[in-house]
Amino acid sequence: MVVLNINNKTVNLDVSEDMPLLWVLRDVMGLTGTKYGCGIGECGACTVHLDGKPVRSCSLPVGAIGEKSVITIEGLGSDPVAQKILDAWSEKQPTQCGFCQPGQIMTAIALLHEQEKPTKEEINRALSGHICRCGMYQRIRNAIKIAAGSIDDE
Ligand code: FES
Ligand code: FES
Repeated sequence: MVVLNINNKTVNLDVSEDMPLLWVLRDVMGLTGTKYGCGIGECGACTVHLDGKPVRSCSLPVGAIGEKSVITIEGLGSDPVAQKILDAWSEKQPTQCGFCQPGQIMTAIALLHEQEKPTKEEINRALSGHICRCGMYQRIRNAIKIAAGSIDDE
């Protein structure tokens, strides 16, 4: 039995400690907002927050999580920073197929929590491990700048 704190709820899971968090989220809990891309930590589609930091859930065994808080795209609640990001996403429409977007959004929110007004370089660094097959990179970065109140350079 593994006990986790997911989206501010304690859940008891009858799973192996070796099971990656992504499998638990999608297949056991039905939280399919977090996406399965590469499965080897290379694309960022599976990004969730662990104690507020972005992590690749495909590469994180649930036995390594302990009492840390897991937040998925479904668990953002009324976080004002998350709302700013979602508003900017609505404005800039950086979505095509949408597959990479939950991961990109989770990293963007974690970035703005850490750094209220990130520089262009800090945004690039934060998102560098995220692959968007639709090539929406510039719009995604501009949406983050808008959420941070920075200048849109598109
Ligand atoms: S699915 Fe986890 S990084 Fe690609
Ligand atoms: S919007 Fe299609 S992969 Fe990014």
